[in-house]
Amino acid sequence: MRKITDIVAPIKHFEEGVMSVEASPPPELSPILRMARHAAVLREQGHDIIDLTLGEPDFNAPEHVLDAARSALDERLGYAPANGLKPLRDAIRQRLEQTKLLEYDDDQVAVGCGAKQIIFNAFTATLKPGDQVVIPAPYWAAYPDMVRLCGAEPVILTTTALEGFRLTPEHLEAALKLATRACWLILNAPGNPSGAIYSSVQLDALAAVLRRFPHVRVLCDDIYASIHYAERPPTTLAAVAPDLSPRILLVDGVSKAYAMTGWRVGWACGPRDLIRAINSVQSNNCTQTSTLSQKAAIAALLGPQQSIAERNAIYRQRRDTALEVLRGCPDIDVLAPEGAFYLLPKIQGIADDQALAMTLLGAGVAVVPGSAFGMPGHLRLSFATDLASLAQGCRRLTTELGRQSWR
Ligand SMILES: Cc1ncc(COP(=O)(O)O)c(C=O)c1O
Repeated sequence: MRKITDIVAPIKHFEEGVMSVEASPPPELSPILRMARHAAVLREQGHDIIDLTLGEPDFNAPEHVLDAARSALDERLGYAPANGLKPLRDAIRQRLEQTKLLEYDDDQVAVGCGAKQIIFNAFTATLKPGDQVVIPAPYWAAYPDMVRLCGAEPVILTTTALEGFRLTPEHLEAALKLATRACWLILNAPGNPSGAIYSSVQLDALAAVLRRFPHVRVLCDDIYASIHYAERPPTTLAAVAPDLSPRILLVDGVSKAYAMTGWRVGWACGPRDLIRAINSVQSNNCTQTSTLSQKAAIAALLGPQQSIAERNAIYRQRRDTALEVLRGCPDIDVLAPEGAFYLLPKIQGIADDQALAMTLLGAGVAVVPGSAFGMPGHLRLSFATDLASLAQGCRRLTTELGRQSWR
């Protein structure tokens, strides 16, 4: 049986050619939820707090999706297969073919309770104690905890703003040479919290490295793929390097694209043996995600798509407004994210980003410390909130930094 000490394994950091081991706390309430909870408690007490913590679109699901769900209530909603309803698997395949020119057979698709559960299922199915998972930082805070819960070790590769928070081929190659037990690399683009996207050329260069390490699978977390600020949507590794498809697991879902976070529908497409293993974990766990939600997801994927472009235009306006306010502060360096809905400003001279986040809470704005994403010295601000609150929240932040009392 796995001991609790196995689960609370240390995190390995890999930076500039050196791999170091750092003790890490056991998985607990995520720092994002902790800050959001602080903000909610203060609000309940009557304080004026602008909450920029949560990665949740502030829109509702498109109307045609809600209509489809309402009419599905008149049907009998029994169990669905563990790998999802066939029309949903068909809709996922159809959409990937339309948007990415990627073709998958029916038995190459698994459906679960959100992208999060699909990723967890994939790790549960493949990781054993001692295995390593390579995670570029900044990273979505859940990845290292999921890896550790499976008894494996996260190996963190810290990227820099100079590289646009993208993993370089040189860094990847050096890391894979040292992390000899690496069995997964996670590529999340657009990234949470960086918003970074890889071009075809950049993916091609990473693919060239990956070809030299045939034992490493790649988990492409494309959950933010439809939220981007360039005209053309981002591409994905499987489209750029089809020869690597037998070891790529492409993960996506309806949460961000269609503002359907609470519906809990996510999926993965990949090699048959891995998909079979993921489905087996799924069927022995919660059987399937809600049949009602799956019907809504079918409507989302097959129905009109214009809400995505309309909402991207709104996100873009918010991003630009927030950047303007933040860049007016001499203590802040911040890149314009190319996708997703987060800003990751670096705060000059910061000693403790968690203490700063608490100070900012006192000043009426809730943000997440960058250390939650492997980026100490930074803060994460979500712009999935209305323009006026966002601008006001950013002003509160810059005003507080201007006070200097936090240093
Ligand atoms: C990078 C990333 N992947 C996956 C997820 C989980 O998405 P889902 O709601 O489909 O579980 C999130 C949610 O915030 C995320 O930021």
